[in-house]
Amino acid sequence: MKLNRIEKIAIWCIIVLALAIWVNSRWRAWFHNAEEAGYYVALTPDRVTLTPGENFMTQRTVSWRCGKKYETSYLRLVHDGDTTTINANGKTVLAYDKKDEFYAAHINDLKDSIYRYQVVTGNKASQWFTLRMPKPNTNTRQFIYFGDVQDTIGGTSKQIFDNLYQRYPNADFWACGGDLIEHATDEYWNYLYQSTDSILAKMPLINATGNHDYLKLLYQLINPRWVNAFVYPSNGAKTAIGKSYFIDLPNLRMIVLDTNGIQDSFTLTSQYVWLRRILRTSGNKWKVVMMHHPIYSVRKGRDNTMIRNTFLPLIKKYGVQLVLEGHDHNYARYIPNKGTTPVFLISYMSPKSYTRIKPYKGMKVIQERRFYQVIDYTPNEMKIRAYYAMSDSLVDAINITRR
Ligand SMILES: [Fe+2]
Repeated sequence: MKLNRIEKIAIWCIIVLALAIWVNSRWRAWFHNAEEAGYYVALTPDRVTLTPGENFMTQRTVSWRCGKKYETSYLRLVHDGDTTTINANGKTVLAYDKKDEFYAAHINDLKDSIYRYQVVTGNKASQWFTLRMPKPNTNTRQFIYFGDVQDTIGGTSKQIFDNLYQRYPNADFWACGGDLIEHATDEYWNYLYQSTDSILAKMPLINATGNHDYLKLLYQLINPRWVNAFVYPSNGAKTAIGKSYFIDLPNLRMIVLDTNGIQDSFTLTSQYVWLRRILRTSGNKWKVVMMHHPIYSVRKGRDNTMIRNTFLPLIKKYGVQLVLEGHDHNYARYIPNKGTTPVFLISYMSPKSYTRIKPYKGMKVIQERRFYQVIDYTPNEMKIRAYYAMSDSLVDAINITRR
């Protein structure tokens, strides 16, 4: 059928109009960043955050923020009556045209012991914190996993964090699958540190980037406060240094991907090549991969095809036993091949739930609750227990045995 000029123009008008309506409907999701409100400069060191180095048993990094411009800063570490001073690097962080000076001090050669530390900027010092290093010869190790927290200001996450810290004092670390805060604004950062009190200065956090940790633009950028608060080893993919990384424990390699930072074939290939290399070199360890976007999504209307097609073959080929994920605001535990690994686990701790799809065969899905997971492992067995965060009742339990 041959169209005349007017018919062709009419068709193009309809296409452009449909595109405009679609972009308009998605505008907020793609480009809207929350307004910055309640910002204030830290007059003394605040937001003290403890993260592990590549070697979990001997290395820690402590970050904090103070003031708007660099002043001489250091960490004071006390052990057995001896005090060591560790110089800190400073970084001026500009977010929403607001300036903060962030600091990071790297501590190496830590022993199986209990230390105390405080951080100092200029003549202003923080309170003292306890730094408890793990025992290397323990047969059973434990960590806590939670997905998206995204609490509302004045919500109940403080109760959950307090409870977790008291209930599991011997956990080596907490792991979060991204979206720890609802908006990337200073108000929500303040709320995170209010709700975690000083736990983040004492319990090492292994955190992944989520979409709420990125600033929305045509090409999304990580919130600069995120990479300067959570300072991880620079052992990740070239395009995602500080956002993709791995941490080694005696029988475990924790691998974190930056799935939100995958925005083109270059960033995708970079993380693929890196993941393949560090899975190949992981040795005889448990391999746990953590990422924000699930390989098997359970939220209605979502399907992360590119992430699945890229990373699933590596996860299978190199024997990853557990994949920890978030983003979908449902609990979902899925073992595609019954009796084997990998196990895929999606979780969330947020008051916000999403409508789920009809689950895959054999997938356990729970909606409209908040969860945390306790993971205990020995060299040969990993026990994963999921609990309702508000009541501590057990809702799911699986054991993985290593052949
Ligand atoms: Fe998310």
